[in-house]
Amino acid sequence: MARLESKVALVTGAARGLGAAVCEWMVNEGAMVVGADINSADGKSLADGLGDRASFVELDVTSELSWDSAVSEVTRQFGRIDVLVNNAGVLWIAPVIGSSLDDYHRVVAVNQTGPYLGMRAVLPAMVEAKSGSIVNVSSMNGIRGMPGEAVYSATKHAVIGLTRSVALEVAESGVRVNAVCPGPIDTPMLEEADIGGEEGTAEALKPLVPFKRLATPAEVAEVVGFLASDASSYCSGAEFVVDGAWTSGLSFS
Ligand code: NAI
Repeated sequence: MARLESKVALVTGAARGLGAAVCEWMVNEGAMVVGADINSADGKSLADGLGDRASFVELDVTSELSWDSAVSEVTRQFGRIDVLVNNAGVLWIAPVIGSSLDDYHRVVAVNQTGPYLGMRAVLPAMVEAKSGSIVNVSSMNGIRGMPGEAVYSATKHAVIGLTRSVALEVAESGVRVNAVCPGPIDTPMLEEADIGGEEGTAEALKPLVPFKRLATPAEVAEVVGFLASDASSYCSGAEFVVDGAWTSGLSFS
């Protein structure tokens, strides 16, 4: 049997990168998947390409109103939400000295407020149904510091704090909340990051990873999918590191 047979999943940041790979994994495993993103053009074409069991809803994860309307729409269409993947995120590379408060607020709004609002929006129905799984995408920077990425790292630490605490708040209901902490994934986020100069981000990062390569989005989607599915029925409040052994002991430089 498919691992997400007949589950209804809402995945944020679904227009590209890891979110797109998670949608594909879930469709292949039997779920009804609603991808959500601020990028409607790419989000819609991704959903179209995944067939009848995928659809798209526009969502700005920083907005309460947007969450209300997206969750109402998915619930109206499918009757419930079994799985929420809080994946939307933005990377911001800037040393704290000289950085802008506006950018700080923007990164916190997407990476930290977004998962908070998402969990708040779906949990009442999940708790009432005594069933549901939430997967929050943190980062290896959520368990380690990274020079030049203090604010990004702080938001990803916050995602773990939210995950652990909310998991306890809803534990008796049977709803599960977990986090995934990826190392570098080969996605547009990294391609667009200003790391490594002319060499490019991927080439600059590879030698630092014990595996000597980046993760594919599909490899991380596999772990997100496991946590979304009943295969992880005794896992909650935990963070799952998917980083090619990077944080197992080596330093960043
Ligand atoms: P990406 O930049 O390729 O895709 C992110 C998606 O989020 C985009 O489609 C974007 O439109 C969407 N998004 C941004 N702001 C939004 C908002 N306000 N509302 C709704 N959607 C919004 O990024 P990638 O690499 O796929 O990252 C996915 C998640 O994985 C992020 O949370 C990121 O922090 C995390 N991550 C990524 C790593 C990497 O190396 N790429 C490593 C560790 C964690």
